[in-house]
Amino acid sequence: MNEFILTDSDFRSISALLEKAAGINLSPSKKTLVYSRLVKRLRLAGTTTFAEYRTLLERDSTERQKMVEALTTNTTSFYRERHHFDHLKDLLINQLIPAARQGRRVRIWSAACSTGEEPYSIAFTVLSVLPQGSGDLDLKILATDINSTVVEKARTGIYGSSAIETLPPGTRQRFFEKVTGSNGVEVAVCRAARDLISFRTLNLQEAWPMNGAFDVIFCRNVMIYFSPETQSRLWQRFGSVMPQGGILYIGHSERVTGPAAQSLINIAPTTYMLSGEGK
Ligand SMILES: C[S@@+](CC[C@H](N)C(=O)[O-])C[C@H]1O[C@@H](n2cnc3c(N)ncnc32)[C@H](O)[C@@H]1O
Repeated sequence: MNEFILTDSDFRSISALLEKAAGINLSPSKKTLVYSRLVKRLRLAGTTTFAEYRTLLERDSTERQKMVEALTTNTTSFYRERHHFDHLKDLLINQLIPAARQGRRVRIWSAACSTGEEPYSIAFTVLSVLPQGSGDLDLKILATDINSTVVEKARTGIYGSSAIETLPPGTRQRFFEKVTGSNGVEVAVCRAARDLISFRTLNLQEAWPMNGAFDVIFCRNVMIYFSPETQSRLWQRFGSVMPQGGILYIGHSERVTGPAAQSLINIAPTTYMLSGEGK
């Protein structure tokens, strides 16, 4: 028997709070998942029923943030959907690095970066073209996520050895070094890759305080958690922070929808280019 009872009304109320806070839209089939992810929070908060926990959520914004973090799914991996990094490499060689050499500012955004494997794969792609790093070029990567715990993990750049076991030996040797810490032998991302990235906590549903446009945006495997209306609004917002010719990479089961589909043109699998009026 379960330690707590999660009623349909508890589930609906928690789902509504989650959608309001993070845009994440839970179908009723996720009731078991909500229970298993929140049990620990109820215990830590010293609450004895979901009803009591709901009352706590209404008055305590820190607990609301913890509830959101507990309900985000952070699955990711290095070079996930490899074809995006092959495409990015060509783009860097043919357009972005020549533009940066002419003094242009170049920005790449990993908009739901989870524990960092995505932005580090972007950084490794940059380093595969610019082995010494960006040097004097104004080329930077921004990596953001709503979940501050995963952003903190990403910032450390330290992973269990299993995270890189499927990478080619050359990639492992070039971009990682072995480190021994409290968790035994782990791997650390090289300094050159870490220097290219700024990590920040950012909720995509709220204001984006960044200045300037993004030449490339990775927004992969996060829209699937949002309602069709939220997705449509966000695609438009991404389009509004890209220059003409800017590139958007999305997840394998996602699709650009709504008015943004007029200007974000599908140029390769799950790869879009902004045409027409951008920023
Ligand atoms: C499945 S991971 C995808 C990670 C990476 N982009 C990839 O494709 O491997 C989804 C990420 O989206 C983040 N996320 C969910 N809602 C968000 C929101 N409203 N704003 C920013 N990030 C969000 C989660 O915290 C999680 O780390």
